[in-house]
Amino acid sequence: MTREKLLAANWKLNLPAEGIGAYCSAMRGRPNAGFDLVLAPPAPFLELLVRESKAAGESFAVGSQNSSQHDSGAFTGEVSARMIAGLGARYAIVGHSERRTIFGESDETVGLKLAKASDAGLVPIFCVGESQETRDAGNTLDWLHRQVTTALAVAARSFPRLVVAYEPIWAIGTGRNAKNPEIQEAHQAIAGIVAPLVPADCRLSILYGGSVKADNAAEIASLAEVDGFLVGGASLVSSSFLAIWGAMRG
Ligand code: PGA
Repeated sequence: MTREKLLAANWKLNLPAEGIGAYCSAMRGRPNAGFDLVLAPPAPFLELLVRESKAAGESFAVGSQNSSQHDSGAFTGEVSARMIAGLGARYAIVGHSERRTIFGESDETVGLKLAKASDAGLVPIFCVGESQETRDAGNTLDWLHRQVTTALAVAARSFPRLVVAYEPIWAIGTGRNAKNPEIQEAHQAIAGIVAPLVPADCRLSILYGGSVKADNAAEIASLAEVDGFLVGGASLVSSSFLAIWGAMRG
């Protein structure tokens, strides 16, 4: 298993106020930092972002925020992993806590989605994380163990490249990021859980997500076991997202 840095923007159901064109222009001309920067827009904008990425010399990659566990059929509203890959996207966020809590995705569903994303050649950004209640009850590590092992067992794929995003639900969009020891403990646990479940040469990234901003990114990025970030709110303005990229670059 080797570890790789990665930085990903999750725009959720939002668009940058500065406009997509201006945002993507701002992503150009960065020195090569040796790791991918991924933008995950709402699905109707995937194709435009892929075009912008090509025009920008692929200085960023494109990812979806979700992808179906089905390839085709009577599944109104769904978009398959193959369709997303066919547009030229390279990553797919799978199992974000908003998908789990608002749209009822179970660990099993997440596992099926991981399998389809992998079959389509997409790199899954597999999200896990505990609620405040679970943390208060002292069950965080058991929770993460169950989320990771159940989904990877259902997926039953050997991932050549896997991204796991640790996103405590109570830290998402709250302005209250997890504390350094909490992040380190969770990332260390995830690394240990994933290791026997992926091929020996798997390229793994473990990202932290939850109220990451320009002013806390450098400190969190310096923690052992933190390979990068999945960023929501602070990714909607190019300058703040690029400041996080700068903090990761060191
Ligand atoms: P946030 O969201 O950065 O706004 O907390 C992170 C996420 O949901 O991926």
